[in-house]
Amino acid sequence: MAGTVATFRIPAQLTVGCGAVETVGAETKRLGGTRAFVIADPNLQKTGVADRVMASIQSQGVEARLFTEVEPEPSVPSVMAAAAAAREYRCDVLVGIGGGSALDTAKATTLLTRNSGTIEDYFGIGLVQQRGVPTILIPTTSGTGAEITPNSLFFVPALQEKKAVVSPHTIPEVAIVDPLLTLTVPPKVTAATGMDALSHAVEAYTSVNASALTDLYALEAIRLIGAHLRTAVANGSDLRAREGMARASCYAGIAIGNAGTNIVHALAYPLQGQHRITHGVANSLLLPYGMEFNALSNLCKFAAVAEALGEPIVGLSPRAAAAKSAEACRLLSLDVGIPQRMREVGIRQEHIGALVDGAMKMTRLWANNPRQVSAEEAKAILEKAL
Ligand SMILES: NC(=O)c1ccc[n+]([C@@H]2O[C@H](COP(=O)([O-])OP(=O)(O)OC[C@H]3O[C@@H](n4cnc5c(N)ncnc54)[C@H](O)[C@@H]3O)[C@@H](O)[C@H]2O)c1
Ligand SMILES: [Fe+2]
Repeated sequence: MAGTVATFRIPAQLTVGCGAVETVGAETKRLGGTRAFVIADPNLQKTGVADRVMASIQSQGVEARLFTEVEPEPSVPSVMAAAAAAREYRCDVLVGIGGGSALDTAKATTLLTRNSGTIEDYFGIGLVQQRGVPTILIPTTSGTGAEITPNSLFFVPALQEKKAVVSPHTIPEVAIVDPLLTLTVPPKVTAATGMDALSHAVEAYTSVNASALTDLYALEAIRLIGAHLRTAVANGSDLRAREGMARASCYAGIAIGNAGTNIVHALAYPLQGQHRITHGVANSLLLPYGMEFNALSNLCKFAAVAEALGEPIVGLSPRAAAAKSAEACRLLSLDVGIPQRMREVGIRQEHIGALVDGAMKMTRLWANNPRQVSAEEAKAILEKAL
């Protein structure tokens, strides 16, 4: 990190705080919208949030159409259906509201408003030619940070793989983070998404692309998750905990948007593609093992992770302090009720070979890892996590 030049990108506007969602109508107007296409997680229709967003937009004299056919961990066909509906409506502003699944669907839809072809044409890094219509993204889970990042992820059924579009053109104009929207998230989703945010923060903090700016956000995200995730899972109506987690997710998103993820996400993607394990659970299963492997790359940083998670490290050697970081993550995931071993979610020894092959293809993420990883080492880590 010392002496390197780092670029830092975030949405042009971040509006954060309880009640922030009420600004969505005024923002669609400010962005010059006259026809808003609103992509919302289907659960938000049940909670009434989707109707409130529609009313806020229409109160500004902006027309709006609601689309709620969002697939969890969206597949290519599902995002192409959303894009077709948005193109047909001829929207000039787009609003995405929901968890990472709804926000990634919205990101794909936006880019396809002004770029031709299908989402598969843009899998890879930097292939999107131009920005789509102006976009507002509003997370309702505290995990992915998708409202901030240049990434969006899609399941390709024919390949049984998740593929990413990585482009600064998919960072929205506006991100609105309203902790009140997360009060209805069930405990299991709160736990899995919270561990995803922790993986983001730890991986970004220890990435070879970490910078002074990303470190600020990553370390604060780790501290907030250590302080608030247990309470958010135990008592979902604790607003202080929900606010802490909403901020943590956003900060961790800022950190990965600029420093990237690495070993944990690389090893976890094949679990999602080949076995349909949800994103947060897959990352949580690999997090302590990835950290144990990476720790010797930077003992001081891993010790700082342990400290940010509340572990006493005074008087310990750097090696012992660094080792506390993986242990603290393991205890946190245990406390919030996430499976501890891959075998608990149906993975067996005979699956390991294909998981290693899938993981080694994630060159985009290995490039960020602070320690070189061979296929044999990836296999050994996966076997430990079995
Ligand atoms: N773009 C990125 O940078 C990025 C980063 C990490 C993960 N992801 C992707 O995001 C997806 C996962 O997103 P997620 O973990 O947020 O889960 P999700 O969006 O799939 O939502 C999980 C569940 O929570 C429900 N839900 C969402 N908000 C709710 C609310 N307020 N109240 C009640 N229920 C609610 C949803 O209906 C769903 O059943 C994956 O596809 C993953 O690959 C993207
Ligand atoms: Fe993630």
